Amino acid sequence: MIFESHAHYDDRKFDKDRAELLSAMEGHGIETIVNVGSDLEGVKKTIDLAEKYDFVYGAVGIHPSDISDLNEEVYQWLQEKSSLPKITAIGEIGLDYYWEKEEEMKSRQRYWFCRQMELAREVGLPVIIHSRDAAEDTLKLMQGIHSEQIPGVIHCFSYSLEMAEAYIKMGYYIGIGGVVTFKNAKKLKEVAANIPLEHILLETDCPYLAPEPERGKRNSSYNLPYVAQEIARLRGISQEEVIEATRENARRLFVKVK
Ligand code: NI
Repeated sequence: MIFESHAHYDDRKFDKDRAELLSAMEGHGIETIVNVGSDLEGVKKTIDLAEKYDFVYGAVGIHPSDISDLNEEVYQWLQEKSSLPKITAIGEIGLDYYWEKEEEMKSRQRYWFCRQMELAREVGLPVIIHSRDAAEDTLKLMQGIHSEQIPGVIHCFSYSLEMAEAYIKMGYYIGIGGVVTFKNAKKLKEVAANIPLEHILLETDCPYLAPEPERGKRNSSYNLPYVAQEIARLRGISQEEVIEATRENARRLFVKVK
């Protein structure tokens, strides 16, 4: 059975058929889902989904592109919610310089990334990190606050093999999703083929980033076998081996998952 480590079923794109999709997960081989909040509204919906479905867990945190939602009051609220039994991580948090070019806003992203990392440390939860076009700053910041003491995953990994190894050295997991099936994803294929299997998590980031042959369509956890299949092909092992190892990895990281 598959452990889906990063989904956004709170997204509006699922409004029409969310219940239908989620109720058929087991039949599609999906055992557990971590639904990840990214803005304040999404975090609230994530908490509701985790309450409603046994196999859905939640992560609470504010995405770097949505930090306008953050202030001390919201931060306190996130801290409160992190102690709910089904909340298993702080995320997604991080840096996104792809969408943000202004220096002042980048520095605000770094501030709230740091604060939310400290929150994770304080409440004893792992982190789910989003980092896009910000490889150096992300690594520097994480090293500066001793992130090797805070377990976590770099989700939708998009950097080099060297960078992956630096994160793995800090104990981090590498989240791999649909992009690995894209023909032009040379760098990610290299990462997926070469890092230790014990550090890989399967994820969709749905509704985004559907793998081949569903590329361009709305994504869901149903497509995770394609991702597992491609990782297996790259490593010369079986798809079952990838599914089993990534499930164990996720259960090691997300300790609140039963
Ligand atoms: Ni995401």
